[in-house]
Amino acid sequence: MKKKIGVLISGRGTNLQAIIDATSKADFPGEVVVVISNKKRAYGLERANRNKIPNFFIGHKSFTTREKHEIAIIEILKKYQVDLIVLAGYMRILSPLIIREFKNRIINIHPALLPSFPGTKAHKEALEYGVKVSGCTAHFIDEGVDTGPIITQSVIQILDNDTVESLSERLLPLEHEALIKSIELWCNDKLIVEGRIVKIKA
Ligand code: GRF
Repeated sequence: MKKKIGVLISGRGTNLQAIIDATSKADFPGEVVVVISNKKRAYGLERANRNKIPNFFIGHKSFTTREKHEIAIIEILKKYQVDLIVLAGYMRILSPLIIREFKNRIINIHPALLPSFPGTKAHKEALEYGVKVSGCTAHFIDEGVDTGPIITQSVIQILDNDTVESLSERLLPLEHEALIKSIELWCNDKLIVEGRIVKIKA
């Protein structure tokens, strides 16, 4: 049976689109059953609509605490019997509440080679540091910020004239690929998490 995937977004949703495209293939081991955004105008919601995927705007500002916001999200995820949560440009830090409930079942894509440049300004910080390669990291979520066990990474050369815009644009296709590969492995029960080390079953 296909695994049920819930995708959390905050923005334009190119990663979401890549996931929708990949999972709509008959032989992909998972399907997107629900999309949740904490931003009302996130273009990703429109993408979900176009693909007839149930989607919800759950704005964090309507809740007094992070936990209460997450309780509302968890309720929807449970209603749709989600097995795996994918954070595809979801710009909120998750609380232990949801992380414990979905242990090793939340995957994030980060636009840098972790543990370098965690947080929301990864491209800018990588360029300012002067690194010659950067990349992206698909990883499980733990209780730190971008510190969870790494599933896969892809590397990109930094060009002399790179800007935040050019680097993020060139990196996007690698993010999509890394995320889809990780989701597919997870859905096929191929990922073994031992402490912070993730191994791929043969
Ligand atoms: C991506 O760069 C992702 O790595 C970061 O936020 C961006 C989301 O892009 N966490 P999109 O909304 O999927 O187009």
